[in-house]
Amino acid sequence: MGNKKFNIAVAGATGAVGNQMLACLEERKFPVKSIKLLASSRSAGKKLRFKGDLLTVEELKEDSFKGMDIALFSAGGGTSERFAPCAAGDGCVVVDNSSAWRMNEDVPLVVPEVNPHAVAGYTKKGIIANPNCSTIQMVAALSPLHKEYKIKRIVVSTYQAVSGTGKKAVDELADQTRAVLNFMDCKNRVYPHRIAFNCLPHIDSFLDNGYTKEEMKMVNETRKILEDDTIPITATTVRVPVFYGHSESVNIETCKPIAAVDVKKMFENQPGILLVDDPDNNVYPLAIDAAGQDLTLVGRIRDDESVENGINMWIVADNIRKGAATNAVQIAELLAMEYL
Ligand code: A2P
Repeated sequence: MGNKKFNIAVAGATGAVGNQMLACLEERKFPVKSIKLLASSRSAGKKLRFKGDLLTVEELKEDSFKGMDIALFSAGGGTSERFAPCAAGDGCVVVDNSSAWRMNEDVPLVVPEVNPHAVAGYTKKGIIANPNCSTIQMVAALSPLHKEYKIKRIVVSTYQAVSGTGKKAVDELADQTRAVLNFMDCKNRVYPHRIAFNCLPHIDSFLDNGYTKEEMKMVNETRKILEDDTIPITATTVRVPVFYGHSESVNIETCKPIAAVDVKKMFENQPGILLVDDPDNNVYPLAIDAAGQDLTLVGRIRDDESVENGINMWIVADNIRKGAATNAVQIAELLAMEYL
């Protein structure tokens, strides 16, 4: 990145992902010249720590981005829809974590290990979209397999942590768990049903085809990132009582012959991937191990004995880090290094 330093804005800095974005910028030693923390008017005046300094949160406004180089957004779809164009209009490149811009054909959708070249398309709208958390970890693992074996079909079921819904959902799982264990009444504020000691096959809203938006995000975003509109993909997304770390059962069929033993070898040397696959010693990817770090863990790799060329695997990553904040900061690094 040379010696250049950048003026960075974080929209949604008080949220679960926004907070982690600050931590990632610090951890990864992003060349920050100045940092501006933005959130709703409710949070204006709050203090947050960055590199040892206490910084004051400001209310996000249309003119918040004047003089800024890069804005990391994680303040919800409506906020991104309204304010990302304001930032871009002021010459500040937006890396947006919401779903508002992901499928816009003038907005690149980027996982740096998979399609870094797509960043170049930021010039069209001044916006780059960060994919959905479940999509990021799945394509991180599947992209090398697609290159080598050409994937013919993907079937995925997810087991997603509550932190993906935001801070309020993390509190809800903790409160409900405490309530159930103390034989007290549970209140459902964030989800339509109790999440403690339960699984909800319902993430985001339902669409006319019976799938949820989350499920269709996995279908459409995967195709866009792998630059292959023809791959058949079907998804079932489930919220589970886990705080951090999304797990996924993924089944693929490929055009070329594929074997679990070769897939394991391939995952030994993939950037961003950690092979965790020693079932004889009870070693496989776990949400509690994925949480707090940036690698995508892959394991339980098996030949699918029900089809000719098929593989089953279990993919786990920290949804707030690689699934959101880290991926966004990696995109910002690419931008800073190669384009700004
Ligand atoms: P605030 O804390 O002021 O509500 P999470 O997903 O963890 O709930 O976080 C959402 C983030 O998006 C928070 O930083 C929140 O700020 C911010 N946010 C939500 N609505 C707005 C809005 N209308 N304008 C600016 N920031 C918003």
